[in-house]
Amino acid sequence: MTKTPFYITTAISYVNGVPHLGHAYEIILTDVMARFQRLDGRETFFLTGTDEHGEKVAKTAEQHDMSAKEFADKNAASFIKMTETLNISNDDFIRTSQVRHHKSVQAIWKKLHDKGDIYLGKYEGWYSIREEAYFAEDELRESEDGAKFTPNGTPVEWVEEPSYFFRLSAYTEKLLEYYEAHPKFIAPDARRNEIISFVRQEGGLKDLSISRHKSRLKWGIPVPGDDDHVMYVWLDALTNYITGVGYPDENSEAFQKFWPAQYHVIGKDIIRFHCIYWPAFLMSADIELPETVFAHGFINVQGEKMSKSVGNVLSPDGLVETYGLDQIRYFLMREIPHGQDGNFSHEQAVLRINSDLANGLGNLAQRTLSMIHKNCDGAYPSPGAFTDADKALLDKAYRAMLNETREAYNTFKIHRALEAIWRVVSDANAYIDEQAPWTLKKEDVSRMNTVLCVLADVIRCLAIIVQPVVPVSANKMLDQLKVPDDQRTFEHISDAYALKPATAIDKPEGIFPRIVEEQAA
Ligand code: MSP
Repeated sequence: MTKTPFYITTAISYVNGVPHLGHAYEIILTDVMARFQRLDGRETFFLTGTDEHGEKVAKTAEQHDMSAKEFADKNAASFIKMTETLNISNDDFIRTSQVRHHKSVQAIWKKLHDKGDIYLGKYEGWYSIREEAYFAEDELRESEDGAKFTPNGTPVEWVEEPSYFFRLSAYTEKLLEYYEAHPKFIAPDARRNEIISFVRQEGGLKDLSISRHKSRLKWGIPVPGDDDHVMYVWLDALTNYITGVGYPDENSEAFQKFWPAQYHVIGKDIIRFHCIYWPAFLMSADIELPETVFAHGFINVQGEKMSKSVGNVLSPDGLVETYGLDQIRYFLMREIPHGQDGNFSHEQAVLRINSDLANGLGNLAQRTLSMIHKNCDGAYPSPGAFTDADKALLDKAYRAMLNETREAYNTFKIHRALEAIWRVVSDANAYIDEQAPWTLKKEDVSRMNTVLCVLADVIRCLAIIVQPVVPVSANKMLDQLKVPDDQRTFEHISDAYALKPATAIDKPEGIFPRIVEEQAA
């Protein structure tokens, strides 16, 4: 049976700043899922990009004496570079300033307009430029000098202007029915409950302002048929998910194949936009809704929220330089539980990298391959009959680990997948100590060969299954094991013993070096 294609997206990042650990976490998480799906046999399309319009970018550009476009170009380049630094396997990178996207947003606007869901009104209210969002009076906090702030602490200003509105109020019931009928639409469940109670609030949803007057904002997509207005950033930004697969050409190959998306991966701060506005826009435009919006938690650094003023903002470049690429990917995926907030601490990173990667998987592979190289004439021997202990370990790798890991990867429980994988790493390390193949060299060469074969085949399975998280290192390991390129997908795990006797292997080199404290500090 051929599997259905898989489409996954990250949020698109604002270009008023440069990438930091939070962006890195989100894109790595999404990359792990995309790589897993490809290795599990699904044709996959992975989209990421930048969200470039809006007042915030226009104002920051001004402060830097640059045009908004120049400023966006400069910072979009640093987000593109991040995809390279972190070895992200995205298939496309969308920028909302691109012509393809302007066409797409104008097309969806027309659809909503033709539906009768857009009308011209007047907006007045509290607006946070930094969050690009309006806030109700009762959501705001007031400082001693009377200045008002959002719950996230950003300042708001009073704004009055003519604005186009989207009839979001007409979608209150439709959305609630949709959430009820599609329990997988919002994940994890805690977020789903949060959205449902927000939509259920007294009086239902309010209509949504979706444009700005040109006198206030020029850096945006013009409203079709009214040169005095440009679009509000969220209609513009959210539409990137369909632009990326060819909208407005709904008959295009990409749209037909990949829409609706399986996952929009986003941070918990932007769930309302994704779980309320976006489905309402899509319903109005008669476009199918994505399967799941998955909201991950936030990462703090050494227990504190990242912020420029605290001076604890970590850059992807710096992290890769300090810890290594696959090491940082592993640490983030292992340390931050499904949908919850997590903490980045230097001490914990060094501990995990050294114990799990250097001493755990790395040492297992290094010991095994060195012994084969040294004691078996540099090539795989033939295994003899497997004992119960051999069969138990192989079976764990072929079946239990594969099943648990598949299930965990599929539901974004990446830390659970890694736990299941590392249970086999420690079982294999215990097995090597119990079997002590080094003592068998003189007594029973045939048994030594079998033990080394069992270990090598378990390492083959481990390297295949860990590829989504540490792709470069896992592939180095598979190269050392001489596993052919076309035998590295998940279906090759469930093969029975798969190493070819007499295949020559090279003298192995360590794949995961230990981090020595002085270097990392
Ligand atoms: N431009 C909007 C998203 C539009 S999507 C149609 C935006 N941009 S952002 O640059 O502020 O954030 C991009 C993503 O990074 C969001 O999903 C956000 O939740 C995530 N993160 C930003 N800081 C984060 C952490 N400290 N930790 C984890 N993720 C964080 O919002």
